[in-house]
Amino acid sequence: MNSATNNHRNVNYYCNKLNLYVKYPKIMSIHNNIIINQNVIHVNNKKRKKKKKKYTSYYRTDEIPVYLEALKKLNTKLDNKIIQTLYSKNPLRNKKTYGFSLINNKFNFHNLPNDVDAAVPDDRKKRKREQIINMMILTIPFLFDDCIVCDFASGSGHQSIPLAYHFPKCNFILIDMKQKSLQIAEERCKRLGLKNVTFYHGKIEEYDGKFDVGMSLHACGVATDLAFLKCFEQSAVCISCPCCIGKVVLKDNKYKNNVKTSEENAIEYPKSTVFQNILTKNEYHALASAGDFGGHDGIDETTIGNLTRSENFKSIELKDNSNSRRICKSMVELDRILHAREEGNDYQTWMFTLEPKSCTPKNDIIICAKKLEDKERFKKFLLL
Ligand SMILES: C[S@@+](CC[C@H](N)C(=O)[O-])C[C@H]1O[C@@H](n2cnc3c(N)ncnc32)[C@H](O)[C@@H]1O
Repeated sequence: MNSATNNHRNVNYYCNKLNLYVKYPKIMSIHNNIIINQNVIHVNNKKRKKKKKKYTSYYRTDEIPVYLEALKKLNTKLDNKIIQTLYSKNPLRNKKTYGFSLINNKFNFHNLPNDVDAAVPDDRKKRKREQIINMMILTIPFLFDDCIVCDFASGSGHQSIPLAYHFPKCNFILIDMKQKSLQIAEERCKRLGLKNVTFYHGKIEEYDGKFDVGMSLHACGVATDLAFLKCFEQSAVCISCPCCIGKVVLKDNKYKNNVKTSEENAIEYPKSTVFQNILTKNEYHALASAGDFGGHDGIDETTIGNLTRSENFKSIELKDNSNSRRICKSMVELDRILHAREEGNDYQTWMFTLEPKSCTPKNDIIICAKKLEDKERFKKFLLL
């Protein structure tokens, strides 16, 4: 009997004595020497019922003067060129592009097996599909045979399973700390007969396997920045559609208290030296809470979603509350972009809004590429 099995037996023995129920560690998958196992312990044989938490935005009206002051400072101190070129035109906005033709043919969910499609309630399906399509289209240029793609905070694999289905020669690793979500993903892959997907049950910060491309769709708050960090460590491509930016307000504290998270890994906000030199921590936090648009609701094209079109985002021009909050969101993403570009990370970056913008209020997507071949592939793709 190997020592792992021995350990499991010991755990079981003690848990029986203590009237705990242990579900045997499930080795979900073995890939590149990654062995994934996890003890799930429920007290008194009963599964603890988790209360469904409703996500509420971190936006606070008493912070309005603070973030307005922060925006004013950014407006005067940031190079205007940075703001003017912040957003590139999403290739899906043009019906003549290669990306758009993929949606109508290869990626048309109506013609694909059910398990490739977004596993969400019907009322959210259309918008989830739109988010997935954006992630997929902007990831494709970086794929090559035998490449390894990590889907950080994968949930049940919405954005990576369709890619794995269409690109059987690429390998996908789904990483999430929620076992239930990974089990759903695993079942979907089994039914589809996918051989190119493996699973890592654990925290992003604990993952240390090699990869070429790191993607993350709505990895909550700090999780987005942890995914960035992992990509930077390996000079990998980073494709990220961030969410819950208000959670970075819980900031350093919560993150530093995480298991295994060491001081040297801790993320300080603001991230870029440019922002650090302009804003106080307090101002940055007010910016992040104001830019937080929680929940699953879509947005009205005429309100906040409309503001980040590259052609009408020429300066930090404050019109009304929702306009300034949307700009706060863009500024938090700009801080991430500048950090990626700064010495040491040295990435070329692009930012797009998802198309259509109404598919989620958290509709910015950031791409960072460092290796020459990755940059070239992406530039070529944008011209197609
Ligand atoms: C909003 S869900 C997004 C899931 C999926 N990407 C999607 O868009 O459908 C966020 C996911 O991030 C995971 N998560 C958050 N922080 C994490 C961390 N530090 N390590 C691993 N997973 C994390 C959660 O378990 C959850 O499944």
